[in-house]
Amino acid sequence: MNITQVTQKTPEFETFEKQQWSVQDTEHFGHDINWDKAPYLLQAEDKGKIVGILDMNIKGGVAKIEGLLVDQNRHRQGIGKQLVVEAEHIAKEAGAHKMYLITGKTWQASRFYQAMGYEPEGMLKRHHQGEDWIQFSKFF
Ligand SMILES: CC(C)(COP(=O)(O)OP(=O)(O)OC[C@H]1O[C@@H](n2cnc3c(N)ncnc32)[C@H](O)[C@@H]1OP(=O)(O)O)[C@@H](O)C(=O)NCCC(=O)NCCS
Repeated sequence: MNITQVTQKTPEFETFEKQQWSVQDTEHFGHDINWDKAPYLLQAEDKGKIVGILDMNIKGGVAKIEGLLVDQNRHRQGIGKQLVVEAEHIAKEAGAHKMYLITGKTWQASRFYQAMGYEPEGMLKRHHQGEDWIQFSKFF
């Protein structure tokens, strides 16, 4: 046996992945699971200009905010809140039961997410850039 690095999923790779996960999913959950990642992008615009963006994906019944960013000059005007509320609406409509995200432990964003009803779920020690990060989540 030898191990090689491949740059993309070949049809053979995908067939193996699909068939073998189907067996494991049936053992773990009693049925097949669709693990495809569905991406959603939201942009908040004001007078034709982007003032905030949110990047989310939904996978296996759980939504994840990959990124949320509001124009530095437009903080505390409710833009982040509107983006997250819309993302939650989309996630619920898509059948997700939970939203989660990670954010830097010391970042102001922690207070934003807590104000939005998210609860700390765990600490990711020495994570991106060697810093501690917190996972926040909300159940629908
Ligand atoms: C975090 C972020 C998205 C919040 O967006 P925002 O549009 O400024 O937030 P909102 O105005 O919608 O705030 C909603 C509520 O969250 C809380 N909140 C937001 N920012 C806060 C802060 N810096 N400190 C304390 N509470 C805060 C407040 O309760 C606020 O309501 P209020 O203004 O009526 O008191 C924005 O600060 C940002 O882009 N930060 C830089 C990037 C980042 O850290 N992204 C998150 C990582 S995924």
